Amino acid sequence: MATAFAPRIFSGIQPSGGLTLGNYLGALKRFAEKQDEGIETIYCLVDLHAITVWQEPEALRHQTREAAAAFMASGVDPARSILFNQSQVAGHAQLAWIFNCVARLGWMNRMTQFKDKTAGKNAENASLGLYAYPSLMAADILLYHATHVPVGEDQKQHIELTRDIAAKFNHDYGVEFFPLTEPLIEGAATRVMSLRDGTKKMSKSDPSDASRINLTDDADAIAGKIRKAKTDPEPLPETLEGLAGRPEAKNLVNIYAALAGIAPEAVMSEFGGKGFGTFKPALADLAVARMAPITTEMNRLMADPAEIDRILGQGADRADAIAQPILARTMEIVGMVRSRQV
Ligand code: AMP
Ligand code: TRP
Repeated sequence: MATAFAPRIFSGIQPSGGLTLGNYLGALKRFAEKQDEGIETIYCLVDLHAITVWQEPEALRHQTREAAAAFMASGVDPARSILFNQSQVAGHAQLAWIFNCVARLGWMNRMTQFKDKTAGKNAENASLGLYAYPSLMAADILLYHATHVPVGEDQKQHIELTRDIAAKFNHDYGVEFFPLTEPLIEGAATRVMSLRDGTKKMSKSDPSDASRINLTDDADAIAGKIRKAKTDPEPLPETLEGLAGRPEAKNLVNIYAALAGIAPEAVMSEFGGKGFGTFKPALADLAVARMAPITTEMNRLMADPAEIDRILGQGADRADAIAQPILARTMEIVGMVRSRQV
């Protein structure tokens, strides 16, 4: 059914803290590649999602601008992609409400991200927004009839839920209005792991700064974190199969492959049999060479926040122009009277 819809890519990132190498390899780098393939691309800083957990107001504003700078520094061109922050387009919250009435409690109860984010805490004290988070995410995507969503592995379940919501809406109202959106989970770095523990995702919310490479880290910090990354005493194996049971080694190989734009097999043929004493410095050099220009460009862009705000405002205008007719039609399908002269 998705084929009846023109291809359109949508993706989002929460401006809830500094972005990491995981965000870059799993998301930003691929967002720029999709734009360069000539597909229509819409990218959103999901500030409404960010406030599902407490955000200091000034920090949220700063992080939103910084994330916008990270998109642009990673190659997302606001002239060719639409880049905006979610709260400036009212349709996201409006469609999310309708989807709250389509989605079932049982579906939300199965969402692993909610369970992970409340694990070890009192779930009764989590915000209602955190619970309803996936329904807003479905609204983000379907407000634009997006057909494809590039994301990291951790978002797969939310895209499946988006399809469930679209299918139930279409079924309940007897229409073929929303597409069944496909996730795009591709490449060597769909799940970049912590530098301190190869079984945990690299995350901006990990308490250990040594566990991640931040997009704001300078060359010394990047090289130092890679030098100290947890590994095992064995040399690298000759084949990918040899990485089984060695999560830290596997993670570093995948990071190298993704940064170099080569297959992990090619990394094994170059470094198989060599120890981390050889591999880590090579990885550090590569990471610094790839990431330093991005950090420099982010800093340049952040020196002019008014220009970033102007770009986000213009992106929101363009997004709103696509969203308005889709939202109006949705409300008509649902049976709402639309009689204001605007
Ligand atoms: P978030 O930072 O949770 O808003 O995630 C934004 C995007 O980055 C999503 O597409 C995630 O799947 C992706 N992402 C976040 N962390 C990682 C990671 N460690 N490895 C790969 N992709 C990631
Ligand atoms: N939930 C996503 C994350 O944490 C962010 C997000 C919100 C998103 N809305 C989206 C991603 C729509 C893709 C499409 O990574």
